[in-house]
Amino acid sequence: MDVSEILTGLYSEQGRQNPYPFYTALHAHGPINAIPTRAEHSTVTAVAGGYDVVDRILRDPLWYKGFPPGWEEQEILRTFLTSMMFVNPPDHTRMRAVFASTFTPRRLGALEPVVVRIVEERLAAMAEAGADGTEVDFVADFAYPVPALVMAEFIGLPAADLAWYRQRVDWIDEYMDVAGKTPERLARANQAAEELRSFYRDLIAHRRRAPGADLISGLVEVLDAGEVELTEDELISNLIVLFNASFVTTVYMFSNGLPLLLAHPEVTAALPGDDALARGCVDEVLRMESPVHFLARSAPAAAELDGVPVERDDNVLLLIAAANRDPARFPDPDRFDPHRDGPPSLAFGVGLHFCLGSAVSKLEGRLALPRLFARFPRLAVTQPHTYSGSLFLRGIDKLFVTTGEAG
Ligand code: HEM
Repeated sequence: MDVSEILTGLYSEQGRQNPYPFYTALHAHGPINAIPTRAEHSTVTAVAGGYDVVDRILRDPLWYKGFPPGWEEQEILRTFLTSMMFVNPPDHTRMRAVFASTFTPRRLGALEPVVVRIVEERLAAMAEAGADGTEVDFVADFAYPVPALVMAEFIGLPAADLAWYRQRVDWIDEYMDVAGKTPERLARANQAAEELRSFYRDLIAHRRRAPGADLISGLVEVLDAGEVELTEDELISNLIVLFNASFVTTVYMFSNGLPLLLAHPEVTAALPGDDALARGCVDEVLRMESPVHFLARSAPAAAELDGVPVERDDNVLLLIAAANRDPARFPDPDRFDPHRDGPPSLAFGVGLHFCLGSAVSKLEGRLALPRLFARFPRLAVTQPHTYSGSLFLRGIDKLFVTTGEAG
C-alpha cells in the first residue's frame, strides 16, 4: 500500500472501524509522509504517525493552529476561534491561564467524592437493569452517564439538560471529523453553536443571581470582579469547547477500554484495590484505543521533517493514535500491558494545548474501573460492537453486556 492508498483506506468505513492495520502500514513508510493527492474536504499536505515527529511538532510553540478562511461568517467557527483550543498565543495563553487557575488540585480533590458517588449510583442502576441476566448497554448505563454527570456537576450544568446538550455536541463533533466539512454538517454545527451560546447566556445570568460552588459561578465571579482578561463571549466559547472536549472523549475512554480489559481477566480480577494497576490500565487503554485519533498543526516556516519538505503554512495531519502504536517507542505496540514503561502516550496531546482536563478523566478512570470490576466480576460483552464513524473521535457507542449477577 502506498501512502495515498493508506489514507484512502483510513478514511473508508473499514478504516474507521479498524484503523490500526493502516497505521502499521504507515509506520513502514516512515514517521512522516507528503500527501500526493488530497482527500475531498481536506486541507492537509503531509501526514505524520511517528511518535517522535508528532511529539516534536506538538511541543514546538511556533507550529500553530490555522484559521479556515471566511470563519467570521460561521457561528461555529466564531465560537471555536474565541476559545483556547483553537487559538494561538498570546490569546491562548491569556484564556488558558483563566481556566487553568480554576482546575486546581483542591478542586480536583473535591471532585473525588463526587466521582465515587456517581460511579456507585450508576453501578447500582446497572445492577438493577441487568438483574436476572438482562442485557444492558454499558455505554448508555455507565460509560456515558458517569463523565456526563461528573462534568455537569463540575461545570454547573443542570443534569436535566444533558440529553438536549448531547445532541448539540454530536452535531459539532460530526463537523470536526477529518472529512466533515460538508455544507450540511456546517449548518447543523452552526445551529448547535447558536443554541449553546444562548443556553450559556441564560445559565450565566442565573448563576450571577444565585451563585453555587460550580466552575461557572467561580468564573463569573472573577470575571465580574475584573480580575481576569476574558470577555463574557469568550467565557461562553470556552465553556462550549470545554464541555465538548470533556464529554465524548471520556465516554470512549470507558467504552473502548472495556473489551480491552475483559480480554485480560487476570487484570480485571486484580483491579479492585490496586490503585497503581488502575492508573496503568487507564494509561494503557488511552494509548491503545485513543478517543482522539488526530490533531493538526500548520508550519511556521519552510522546513524539512525527517526528509520530508513542508512549506510555510502547510497543514500537517498528526495521527496521535498511530504515534501511540509506534513500534519504535512502544515495543510490541498492539499488546495491552498496564505495566508498560516508556514515554507517555499522546492521547491527551502535548505542548501548549495539552489537555486541560486530563486529570479529571484519569481520576474518573482510576476510581471507576476498580469499582466496576469489584461489583461485577463476571461482566461479559454479549454482542459484537462497532465504532463511531469518526476518526477524530473514535469509540464504541453501544456495548451490550451482562453483569453476571444473579437477580
Ligand atoms: C479521556 C478523555 C480525554 C481525552 C482523550 C482528551 C484529549 C485531548 C487532546 C488530544 C487535546 C489536545 C488538543 C490539541 O492539541 O489540539 C485536548 C485538549 C483539551 N481538553 Fe481534553 N481530553 C479528554 C478529557 C478532557 C476533559 C475531561 C476536559 C475538561 C474537564 C478536557 C478539556 C480540554 C480542553 C479545554 C482542551 C484545550 C486545551 C488548550 O487548547 O489549551 N478534556 N484534550
